[in-house]
Amino acid sequence: MAIEVKNITFSYPGSLATAVENVSMTIEKGERVAIIGQNGAGKSTTVKLMNNIYKPSKGTILVDGIDTKERTTAQIAPHVGYVFQNPNDQIFNDDVVKEIEYVLRYRKLPEEEIRKRREEAIDVTGIRPYVEMHPFDIPLPIRKFLTIAVVVAVSPDYVILDEPTAGQDLWGCAQLKTVMDYLQQKGKAVLTISHDMEYVAENFDRVIVMAHKNVIADGEKRDILYRMDTLREAHVKPPLSAQIAQAVGIRDKILNLKELSAAIL
Ligand SMILES: Nc1ncnc2c1ncn2[C@@H]1O[C@H](COP(=O)(O)OP(=O)(O)OP(=O)(O)O)[C@@H](O)[C@H]1O
Ligand SMILES: [Mg+2]
Repeated sequence: MAIEVKNITFSYPGSLATAVENVSMTIEKGERVAIIGQNGAGKSTTVKLMNNIYKPSKGTILVDGIDTKERTTAQIAPHVGYVFQNPNDQIFNDDVVKEIEYVLRYRKLPEEEIRKRREEAIDVTGIRPYVEMHPFDIPLPIRKFLTIAVVVAVSPDYVILDEPTAGQDLWGCAQLKTVMDYLQQKGKAVLTISHDMEYVAENFDRVIVMAHKNVIADGEKRDILYRMDTLREAHVKPPLSAQIAQAVGIRDKILNLKELSAAIL
C-alpha cells in the first residue's frame, strides 16, 4: 500500500511555467516523511496532486494502485487527506462542529460514528476550548488545528500536513506531536512539509528535499540533514545542533541538543 508518484509534471491553469517537473516519490503506508526545500520549490503542488486537487499534466500518481486521473477529488480524499498550508483556503463553514462533520455527513456515516470521530478529533487536536467560536475568530495557529481535526475525523490512510509548524509556539509543537503519534499509532502515513529543521530532525525518519521544481534528495534523515551541498542548494539551514557540532569539530551526525551535550561532555 503506497502513494506512488511517477515522473509528474504540472502547470497551474493559465500559467505558462511548470510548477513541478518530472517529480517522483513513493510514500508507503505507515511511514513518517518530511518534505523540505526552499519557497516555490513545488512542495505544496506535489502534495496537492497526491490529494487529486489537481491532476498531473504528465506522469502518473497511483494511490494503492489506483490512478488518480481516473478518479474525482472526492473519491481520492477519503484515502489521501490534505491539510492546507493556509487554513483560510480550507475552512468553508461558519461553525467548528459543522466544519469537522461536513465530510462525514457527505459520506452518510451513522450519527453515532460521526459523534465519535468528531469528539476524538477535537480532543487529539486540543481545540476543545475553541469549539463554540466562529472558525475565523480562532487565532490562526489554532485554526490550523481545526483543519487538522477535519482530516483526523475523515481518517485517511495517508495524512498530508502542509507546514503545520508555521507560527506555532511550544503548545502548538507539542500538540502537533500528539497528533502525529496518534496518527502513527493508527497505522497512517504522515507526510509533512516543514521549514523547521529541529522539528523535522525530531519527528521524522525519512526526509525528501525539493528544489527547482524537483526532488534533489530522498533518504534517511541523519544522512540527508548532513548533506551540506544538498541543503545549500535547497536554501535550507541544518538543525542548529548539527551546525554547532560541525563548528566544534564533532564527527558524529548530531541532530539534537541531547546528542550534542552528550558528545561535548
Ligand atoms: N495557484 C497557483 N497558480 C499559479 N502558480 C502557482 C500557484 N501556486 C503555486 N504556483 C507556483 O508554482 C511553483 C511551486 O509552488 P509551490 O506552492 O508548490 O511551492 P512550495 O514549495 O510549496 O513553496 P512554499 O515553501 O513557499 O510554500 C511556484 O513557482 C509558485 O509560484
Ligand atoms: Mg507550500
